[in-house]
Amino acid sequence: MTTRLAILTNMPKIYTNLKEIRNIVAREKPSKTVLVTSRILQEKLSWAIKLIKPHETILIPDGEAAKTWRCLEKLLIHFNKVGLDRKGLIIILGGGTVGDLVGFAASIYLRGIKYIQIPTTLVAQTDSAHGGKTGINFEKYKNQIGTTNSPIAIVVDQRFIKTNSHAQITDGLGEVIKYGLIKDAQIVKLLEKQKVSTLRESKDLQKIITRSIEVKNYYTSRDPLDRGIRQMLNFGHTVGHAVELKYNLGHGRAILHGMVKELEITEKLGLTKPAVRGNLLNLYKNLGIEYTANLKLDWRTIVRDKKFQGDVIDLPVVIQEGQSKLVKVKAAKLRSLLGL
Ligand SMILES: NC(=O)c1ccc[n+]([C@@H]2O[C@H](COP(=O)([O-])OP(=O)(O)OC[C@H]3O[C@@H](n4cnc5c(N)ncnc54)[C@H](O)[C@@H]3O)[C@@H](O)[C@H]2O)c1
Ligand SMILES: [Zn+2]
Repeated sequence: MTTRLAILTNMPKIYTNLKEIRNIVAREKPSKTVLVTSRILQEKLSWAIKLIKPHETILIPDGEAAKTWRCLEKLLIHFNKVGLDRKGLIIILGGGTVGDLVGFAASIYLRGIKYIQIPTTLVAQTDSAHGGKTGINFEKYKNQIGTTNSPIAIVVDQRFIKTNSHAQITDGLGEVIKYGLIKDAQIVKLLEKQKVSTLRESKDLQKIITRSIEVKNYYTSRDPLDRGIRQMLNFGHTVGHAVELKYNLGHGRAILHGMVKELEITEKLGLTKPAVRGNLLNLYKNLGIEYTANLKLDWRTIVRDKKFQGDVIDLPVVIQEGQSKLVKVKAAKLRSLLGL
């Protein structure tokens, strides 16, 4: 019980207006604020940097290229150069890549110093900034090296989404729809009235983002080390990861595909109500998301993914929108259900 309480009270506070950053910093009284972002975002999001007014700014490469040892080392050298000490505060501005690298750096520099996440993509606002996972890619593996370490605060300001591209919104929707299916049917309801092309301007966007964060936090707070119920968040990811690798699809788009395929499997097992898959395909159609049926899967890629324990997988099963459970399925059974 004590542990559970400790976990829940350690959850970072979430703010929805960037203006709050001044108050957060004033309360923390750091020796120095160091903003880390990419050069591209420094230009695109200059309005936000003017509000943040950091003492120092460090620029890192944009996108996945940032999540390397080399960039990590360079960043740590920069922390030294700008004289960041234990009472300093790092402010992270950017998408999931910036968040993952800089969150990792913040957790190991001087054995860990405080940081704030300001996620700027739909993926980062609803997924990567929450749950405390940080890290970089290593050899050919994604997110292989990292820590579990949360920021002191997360600022989820809807204005950042306005400049997200159509592809970024689609990617973000992969996880958002997943949250709706596994835990909060209201998210699916809210999305029924949307289109990918107009979601950025929607009056419901904040509601959709907030409810998504609540679902992610529901699972991560109950299972911070990712050993049990948090695996529910892998819904769509067993098939999704295989599709992502084979077709070089964006992560979110691969998950959109993976969810349909996994529903097909659990429907065959008699665990999912048959209407769920049809409703999901309709939702994609309404939103304007292209869905390509019959993408080929590679069994070896599915097995190599880290989700199997021995020859058993805890398969996330959506029973109906907003209701789900984990079910143990043997590898051979899954393979035959997938027809591989
Ligand atoms: N830590 C976790 O729990 C977790 C969860 C999910 C994903 N991730 C990681 O997140 C990363 C993907 O995140 P992402 O999709 O945000 O990618 P990203 O950080 O690469 O951002 C994508 C692009 O969007 C641009 N961008 C960011 N904000 C913008 C804005 N407001 N307006 C216009 N352009 C903007 C960036 O410059 C970048 O080129 C992956 O590395 C993935 O592994 C981590
Ligand atoms: Zn995902």
